[in-house]
Amino acid sequence: MPLVTTKEMFEKAYNGGYAIGAFNVNNMEIVQGITEAAKDLNAPLILQVSKGARAYANHTYLMKLVEAAIEETGLPICLHLDHGDSFELCKSCIDGGFTSVMIDKSGLPLEENIAITRQVVEYAHDHGVVVEAELGTLAGIEDEVNVSAEDSSYTRPEDVQEFVEKTGCDSLAIAIGTSHGAYKFKPGTKPQLRFDILEDVAARLPGFPIVLHGSSSVPQEFVKIINENGGNMPGAIGVPEDQLRQAASMAVCKINIDSDLRLAMTATIRQYFNEHPDHFDPRQYLKPAREAIKQMVAHKITDVLGCDGKA
Ligand code: G3H
Ligand code: 13P
Ligand code: ZN
Repeated sequence: MPLVTTKEMFEKAYNGGYAIGAFNVNNMEIVQGITEAAKDLNAPLILQVSKGARAYANHTYLMKLVEAAIEETGLPICLHLDHGDSFELCKSCIDGGFTSVMIDKSGLPLEENIAITRQVVEYAHDHGVVVEAELGTLAGIEDEVNVSAEDSSYTRPEDVQEFVEKTGCDSLAIAIGTSHGAYKFKPGTKPQLRFDILEDVAARLPGFPIVLHGSSSVPQEFVKIINENGGNMPGAIGVPEDQLRQAASMAVCKINIDSDLRLAMTATIRQYFNEHPDHFDPRQYLKPAREAIKQMVAHKITDVLGCDGKA
């Protein structure tokens, strides 16, 4: 099976009340951990590559790793550019075989966001590729961009219809209280997503797939392992998984998860080195790290996204 777009995946997810996991990939072990879990659970999958991942691992290596995963699993897999910041970057990924791109100009005024998104959509659709766009600004860190909580803003539901009509985008990322990274909420506060905004957006865009970024839950068992094994991550807090499950049952068809995979991998490796200070063969510590990613993704597919058995 070749790489697929998100078109059919999202239609089924919208109607079925579940979401597809979009997991960030940076190297072979991450690709293997994610795709082995999805294969065991027969789940459709979005593998996404950020600008930073592409700079780290190289477009061709990532492409070939994902092609290998398709050959090994036989699953419908979409390869997506995460947070494309320019037409040129989106074009390069489209020309290089990605089946989906995100153009993220959510930090610009509405009219400018519309103009650049429209340009990407025209090129992408001419090449059979789908486009995710964003309205509203999430707090947190992604690549070189660090948006403070004060500069973040919820999506304005009154903008979404005009945006989707004028751009022709295929899915829309909205800001309802999630944020990037491992420090999403102030310690002591109760995390609460703005389901009222999601409902309002969904009512204005019937049947249209909505995307949630910044949706790691930051499992405290991994933060504890990191902190007990030489790390220092006090106050790392994520989005409660029951709220993500609720979003998945609504109009949200794609849920982005990266930080939780990083935590699983890092916690496992830190613990491994503490227990085996004399080991230095990378296969020895990357094997359990890959297994930890697999377990994390299996948990997300089954207990959060609800897309097991849907491939
Ligand atoms: O939203 C950002 C993703 O977690 C990717 O992070 O830009 O550091 O690769 P990155
Ligand atoms: P997290 O940092 O919550 O994993 O979000 C990842 C993301 O949104 C990638 O685009
Ligand atoms: Zn994101």
